[in-house]
Amino acid sequence: MTIAHDHVGIALLAGNAHPELAEAVARLCGATRVPVSIGAFADGETRIRIDGDIAGADLYILQPTSAPTNERLMTLALLADAARGAGAARITAVVPYFGYARQDVRKTPGEPRSARLAARLLADAGIDRLVALELHSPALESAFDMTFVHLEADELMLPAVRGWEVPALTIVSPDAGGLKRAQRYAIALAVPLGVVAKTRPAPDVAVAAGVLGDVRGRSCLIVDDMASTGGTIAGAAQALLAAGAREVHALFVHAVMAPGALERIRAASVGRILTTDSVPGAAPTIERVSIAPLLARTLGRLARAA
Ligand code: R5P
Repeated sequence: MTIAHDHVGIALLAGNAHPELAEAVARLCGATRVPVSIGAFADGETRIRIDGDIAGADLYILQPTSAPTNERLMTLALLADAARGAGAARITAVVPYFGYARQDVRKTPGEPRSARLAARLLADAGIDRLVALELHSPALESAFDMTFVHLEADELMLPAVRGWEVPALTIVSPDAGGLKRAQRYAIALAVPLGVVAKTRPAPDVAVAAGVLGDVRGRSCLIVDDMASTGGTIAGAAQALLAAGAREVHALFVHAVMAPGALERIRAASVGRILTTDSVPGAAPTIERVSIAPLLARTLGRLARAA
């Protein structure tokens, strides 16, 4: 099969991480789907074969590197290598959730810089551009040698939050690192901003040490990039309620949701929960906004800018 492409044609290759999202994006931007088979050899190694003719194509590979992160990341690298070998003119990886992004610096000696290593693997595999949504830290962009497109989910989330019509709203960042993100929401919604002082005494353990800002009688909306164990959101919610908040809601872009995360968040009396579909299948019972329109618009823009 030959993939039709011209200077604005988008050839979309879906990895194995999130076929539903790839389908929605392809539909919205009119992309041509590239047939590919992704399987495993008997010993468990990943086996890839691109079945379409992508010689000269402006190719987009959609693959969030969510759990199982190592497998998804390696599959993305193999897809890029296969596409380069098949003659794709330019390869853009669309990685709405980028795994390993939280491990961007060595916090203690003896740790790897996992984010940087993942970025180098993808560059070596032949990826020219990478599109990511709400990285843990936008500064991580410097780890990528390739062209990097960083998207924010605000435009998708804000209409949903406005629709809640929550009275006396205060936006809260659950830690200092997320303050800029939370500030964007507070400005857009013209409401006050607060922050929770968080410490991490051990990996995957979050302790809310206090609340900065007066939240008494307020409806607090915690804004974060992701929920993994749910400990950050749960701890922040408990601290806010202890500080006199009337109610607490939560918004996080990536529903990474390790086992028990949703139960942990619910047990902390969090009311409404809003997330996106950047991570496949996670927590289908919570309110989710699709990122497909944002990705489709971005791919269209990138293809036209060629
Ligand atoms: C920084 O630490 C991040 O912005 C998130 O707050 C964190 O990754 C959430 O992880 P968890 O749900 O495990 O507390």
